Amino acid sequence: MAVVFIRHLPQYIGDRVTIEGWLHLKRSSGKIQFLQIRDGSGFVQGVMVKGEVDPEVFEAVEHLTQESSIRVVGEVKKDDRAPSGVELTLTQVVLIHPAHDYPITHKEHGVDFLLDHRHLWIRAPKQRAIIKIRAEIIKAIRAFLDSHDFTQVDPPILTPSSCEGTTNLFHTKYFDQDAYLTQSGQLYMEAAAMALGRVYSFGPTFRAEKSKTRRHLIEFWMIEPEMAFATHEDNLAVQEQLLEHVVAHVLAHCQVELATLKRDPARLVPVQAPFPRITYDEAIRLLQKDGHDIKWGDDFGAPHETVLADKFDRPVFVEKYPTAIKAFYMKPDPERPEVALCADLLAPEGYGEIIGGSARIDDPDLLMKRFEEHLLSKEDYAWYLDLREYGSVPHAGFGLGLERTVAWICGLEHVRETIPFPRLLYRLYP
Ligand code: 4AD
Ligand code: MG
Repeated sequence: MAVVFIRHLPQYIGDRVTIEGWLHLKRSSGKIQFLQIRDGSGFVQGVMVKGEVDPEVFEAVEHLTQESSIRVVGEVKKDDRAPSGVELTLTQVVLIHPAHDYPITHKEHGVDFLLDHRHLWIRAPKQRAIIKIRAEIIKAIRAFLDSHDFTQVDPPILTPSSCEGTTNLFHTKYFDQDAYLTQSGQLYMEAAAMALGRVYSFGPTFRAEKSKTRRHLIEFWMIEPEMAFATHEDNLAVQEQLLEHVVAHVLAHCQVELATLKRDPARLVPVQAPFPRITYDEAIRLLQKDGHDIKWGDDFGAPHETVLADKFDRPVFVEKYPTAIKAFYMKPDPERPEVALCADLLAPEGYGEIIGGSARIDDPDLLMKRFEEHLLSKEDYAWYLDLREYGSVPHAGFGLGLERTVAWICGLEHVRETIPFPRLLYRLYP
């Protein structure tokens, strides 16, 4: 008898099937045992009635413990009340390996305890749902970019210099040279855009940020599209269309997972392009009107971003920040050089900045001037400066933080649950 994945059970109603998985939960009324079985693809309830099966099998099931691995045989019954739509009438249960005193019980546990047991915690329905949605979000991002003329290009992880400032670099030795874990693949993507036109990277990035907030990870994954000949306007259009596509994909394919997370899909339905746009100037005025102590030239903190984003039902672009508080490579607005042709995309419900992007300086002289102002080494970045020497073109790109996007779409309290094994300020285990 072929082994069937739980997810496919609705196609086998009336059949006898084998399932291989783990015992998630067991209830018993003495005469009837209810087994919640999970196999990774889903959860199903198996029912075993005393007197209808071999007494030895019934007796063995009474001693089965949570998370023991099992192989079961049963008949698939339609059950409209069950989330999976089916139930199994069990005739056989074989123990593969027992689990003794599984530490994560069905009671409440503290976050530190759960993070110490993250290798087991990911088996929980909620964690499984998040990992599943994360995978679907990645799939949707790739599908969108691949079908819009982008080519994936992989930047290096070990780099000789920084991209986003030197304060939070992870240092390591590269034989007898110094090296840093990448903060962003952007500068390499700019080189790739000059070779392939529209490119994107998708990989891990690292920031030794001493931030212990619900939005910060030390290791996080970024999607970084870069487009030759693209303007600031083109850049924002790609971002809003990309996110519209991602959210629609999740709504179409992850209803079971959203329900497991108790995430109200109605909160995601309005996420359609075009997204609202406000300028940094307007944002400052809005915050001042709301009584915040902030002036032109200040950067936003998390509370500011939350206040701004809460005014909208979908993500909002805040564009044209002061050049002085943004990265060296951002192109100034030709009409107002004190602001940059950049935008941060803020997610609603307090999730903050999920995308940072800009048009890049394409003029070699201006870039050289910025290098001097920012005290950047022309030798370290000689290859990057070359890009402006040999057929420089206007170009733009952005970085989408995967974990913050997953946190927002899933409606999670903290980014730590959006990645299977989070690297946090005080956590490198497991
Ligand atoms: O705004 P950031 O720093 O932009 C860049 O790195 C650009 N070089 C990207 C580009 O234009 N190619 O980071 C981009 C995004 C942020 O909007 C945020 O979503 C995420 O990366 N991010 C983090 N996510 C989790 N933990 C952290 N510590 C993060 N830092 C940034
Ligand atoms: Mg940013």
